[in-house]
Amino acid sequence: MMHVIRTATTDDAGRLAELAAVTFPLACPPGSDPEDIAAHLASALSPDNFRAYLADPSVTVLVIDAGGRLRGYSMLVKRPATDPDVVSALAILPSVELSKCYVHPEHHGLGAAAELMRASLAAAAESGGKGVWLGVNSQNARAIRFYEKSGFRRVGTKSFKLGSTVEHDFVMERAVQP
Ligand SMILES: CC(C)(COP(=O)(O)OP(=O)(O)OC[C@H]1O[C@@H](n2cnc3c(N)ncnc32)[C@H](O)[C@@H]1OP(=O)(O)O)[C@@H](O)C(=O)NCCC(=O)NCCS
Repeated sequence: MMHVIRTATTDDAGRLAELAAVTFPLACPPGSDPEDIAAHLASALSPDNFRAYLADPSVTVLVIDAGGRLRGYSMLVKRPATDPDVVSALAILPSVELSKCYVHPEHHGLGAAAELMRASLAAAAESGGKGVWLGVNSQNARAIRFYEKSGFRRVGTKSFKLGSTVEHDFVMERAVQP
């Protein structure tokens, strides 16, 4: 795949929402209610949501752009964590949240995710982070393995609500070098 990794702009909002609609369901545990997934897409991953993220100075969105088609994205949030479970788990501060990391399924297992991760870690370090943390569903074995390969280790747990279901996420962190 010929592609570049670049910072997203507000022009990408619609295409990011389309990509999120393909990739978010892949991160949900088997058996998740499709209505809960649809509700989350509508309330947190719509074009308007992405426009708001892209306008937020503490948020950076990176995209894998293959000739205008978005094949993956990550979102970094440079704000201190507020969830008490996360606050008590993190040891490397200040820490930037890798709040989203998604690659189109046609590009899984081909190294694109590792490239996106490298760019995301570099951006986090450049913004002043000494650490990066993330939450990942405890049943998402593929993503957990990918994060472990990317240098993250489990430091705690937190909960994530999808509809009325409380999901359990692992909290993972790693150090980044300037
Ligand atoms: C998470 C994601 C970005 C990783 O990208 P990727 O290209 O799949 O990653 P890689 O192939 O480099 O690494 C995945 C690893 O998990 C392994 N794996 C695949 N399926 C697995 C499974 N069911 N159980 C355990 N390990 C699994 C792979 O073998 C690989 O490990 P290896 O290189 O040691 O063989 C991508 O899978 C994705 O976008 N998934 C859907 C969305 C998602 O879950 N995002 C994370 C939200 S927190």
